[in-house]
Amino acid sequence: MKIEFAPIEIPTSGSLIIFLAEGDGLTEFAKSVDTFTEGAISRAIELNSYDAKLYSTLIIEAPHGLSLNRILLCGLGKASEFSILNIQRAGATALKALAHCKEESVDLAIESFSEMGMTDVNLALEIAYGLKLGSYKFSKYFTNEKNSVSSISINTANVLVNDHLDAQNIFSIRSEVAKGVNLARDLISEPGNVKYPEAIGRDIMNLQELGIDVKLLKKNELEKLGMGALLGVSQGSEKEPIVAIMHWKGNPNSSKETPVALVGKGVTFDTGGISLKPSGGMEEMKYDMAGAGAVIGTMRALAGRKAKCNVVGIVGLVENMPDGKAQRPGDVVTTMSGQTIEVINTDAEGRLVLADVLYYAQSKYSPSVIINLATLTGAVVVTLGSHMAGVFSNNQNLADNLINAGKYVGEDIWQLPLDVRYDKEINSAIADMKNVGKSREAGSIAGAQLLQRFVGNTPWAHIDIAGVAWMKGSENSIVPKGASGFGVKLLDRFVNENYEDL
Ligand code: BES
Ligand code: ZN
Ligand code: ZN
Repeated sequence: MKIEFAPIEIPTSGSLIIFLAEGDGLTEFAKSVDTFTEGAISRAIELNSYDAKLYSTLIIEAPHGLSLNRILLCGLGKASEFSILNIQRAGATALKALAHCKEESVDLAIESFSEMGMTDVNLALEIAYGLKLGSYKFSKYFTNEKNSVSSISINTANVLVNDHLDAQNIFSIRSEVAKGVNLARDLISEPGNVKYPEAIGRDIMNLQELGIDVKLLKKNELEKLGMGALLGVSQGSEKEPIVAIMHWKGNPNSSKETPVALVGKGVTFDTGGISLKPSGGMEEMKYDMAGAGAVIGTMRALAGRKAKCNVVGIVGLVENMPDGKAQRPGDVVTTMSGQTIEVINTDAEGRLVLADVLYYAQSKYSPSVIINLATLTGAVVVTLGSHMAGVFSNNQNLADNLINAGKYVGEDIWQLPLDVRYDKEINSAIADMKNVGKSREAGSIAGAQLLQRFVGNTPWAHIDIAGVAWMKGSENSIVPKGASGFGVKLLDRFVNENYEDL
């Protein structure tokens, strides 16, 4: 969706969206539209007892006195409900309320209310951001766009606001974050036959245009590094594994070259391997690279908005397939760290991939923090469902900073424990550890404990996004059904709050 900014005046055609606050009457602009339409707005409000509750909408078709097709009123709710998240969602809700109208563009009149404590420009910024996130659709594979179920035809939004040039300027920075989220959503939505490891590697190479240093480690280099756990996962696949490194050096003055390392699980398709998954729903396992998708999207966001920070993003891209060459349950693999792992279940492959990538990140870059994102366990879906991700950390300050960043952007994460008693459960009879804990008990923690064994003393957090990366239904108006892009906004905000020179 193209988003443009223009001075606030009454448009002469198409549809106009006006935002109202509950109990606050008409804004100056709304009053003038009301006057031109000989009271169409105030009459519609009265006839429908419309009170501008948060996300409520009211359409006034073909208003008298103006050549507009329709006016849509959208509620921002009460003063106590004014928050940037609610405003972003109201923007997207208004757009969706016009989905049936088959128009190509729409105008949105933005005027703040005194109680909001927000300038017109900031209100316009948040609404525009909501539009950019909420209008996302993955329609690449429809030969005819009309076959798409989510067929909003609107492709341009004109945001009408005082100081429209200021609004345009700050939005040009924020929209880079939305582009990062939408890139993650695209990569995650793509099927496994299209976005296999090398294909994602090629997409990552394109990030060089934004000033990101990219390096792809191919199979022979991974062998030289001794990444036996990652290679064991990929050995049943025809597709070559790739570890991709994206380095954004946005702060040349920083005392530390790489304070933040972001690591992502990128299993481009998870069949389970020889411990084959049941066929029902297996098609969704294309999203088992959502951790990598979030890291790639975050790097795109940081570079796009030229963040003044140094961050390395590393993703382990493999496909988990059953085959004559695939690893067997019971196999023992040697990781890059030297530690050995007995592979009890080939479907617990994410931790095997991350064991090597986390160790690589830690030993190669000595970062101040490592944060990894992974669709690691079905168990976290049982624990937290699809509204929150699980976070595990060996450093409470880091966990708190991530939780706070998540709250701010509407990507909630809930802390789950690490403990030596759970750690013992992954000890193996024949190797340093096994890749599963006690069957059916505390499965997400067992996964996290294994990862912890590969980060040394580095402050580290693991975010298990298995439940939030793929939405069975739309979570809210800015998080669509399907790939949510969860993690990009959170990591971008975390870096911004904690590691960016402003
Ligand atoms: N990719 C899955 C986890 C997953 C499950 C992601 C559901 C998204 C939705 C992971 O590789 C896996 O299969 N984990 C196993 C681990 C078990 C064998 C210890 C699981 O959760 O069942
Ligand atoms: Zn698996
Ligand atoms: Zn997996």
